[in-house]
Amino acid sequence: MITVSTIAEVRQHVQAARAKGQRIGFVPTMGNLHAGHLALADAARANADFVVASIFVNPLQFGPNEDLDAYPRTLEADQQGLTDHGVDLLFAPAVAEVYPDGMTLQTRVSVPGLGDILCGASRPGHFDGVATVVTKLFQIVQPDLAVFGRKDFQQLTLIRRMVRDLSMPVTILDVPTARAEDGLALSSRNHYLSADERAKAPALYRTLNQIAEQLQQGGADLIKVRKQALTNLEDSGFRPDYVEIRHRHTLQEPLQEDRELVILAAAWMGKTRLIDNLVVDRPASS
Ligand code: PAJ
Repeated sequence: MITVSTIAEVRQHVQAARAKGQRIGFVPTMGNLHAGHLALADAARANADFVVASIFVNPLQFGPNEDLDAYPRTLEADQQGLTDHGVDLLFAPAVAEVYPDGMTLQTRVSVPGLGDILCGASRPGHFDGVATVVTKLFQIVQPDLAVFGRKDFQQLTLIRRMVRDLSMPVTILDVPTARAEDGLALSSRNHYLSADERAKAPALYRTLNQIAEQLQQGGADLIKVRKQALTNLEDSGFRPDYVEIRHRHTLQEPLQEDRELVILAAAWMGKTRLIDNLVVDRPASS
């Protein structure tokens, strides 16, 4: 695997691959890679001839009081993981390469109706930062396909919408959430948890499963189910941000007849904000 830090070098390598008729796959990340990220690389490898990954801790998607400086940076281990999973080219730019004129006057991409709900309501500007950097990375790499994790379900939904709205010639592939044995979704932010917090954290996924079971039985009162889930999370040591049951594709409140749902939750464990989600099909009768 070749690692480059400039846009010019990425373009050069991608153009050479394209000249050979190769299909370009792309995996954008913020690094500190775990098995979830590497599964994205595997999916790209399986569906493309030349695989590009990026590692960029994007300041534009972090709020003023968020963990930008603390975010774990582990480039050498990441390079090894990506090499082992068949990535051909790693783009690991400095902030000044991506935002040469600073961020204040940077042109932004915003996805209305999706960027400002759920996590976007709790983290104002976050999804504009994501949409903007992903647009830039797509322009730099010009991939045929790009791979995203279902772990960040709202992000995946927003990227799909952005690609459609802006007629971007990129196919979006998604990969299921990789979890620890106890169910906790793998996340770079799990490193922030103390041993005690880590032991409590699987309650988030357990709660999602309890909600899913209730929905699958049919006839569930969504307001009651959500209230019960919030109480469960509190009893397990979480400070819930939200638990929502939404339409799987629009992330809007579901209509009575909507069957394809997704349960989304965000909750604080100490100083760490964890997110998770679970798709569920509601029976036709409910
Ligand atoms: P990051 O959090 O590093 O995640 C990069 C990709 O890995 C995302 O598509 C995310 O959904 C996926 N991922 C993370 N944990 C996962 C897990 N446990 N199972 C499966 N996939 C998982 O998401 C971002 O970075 C950034 O917002 C980015 C898209 C790179 C833009 O800056």
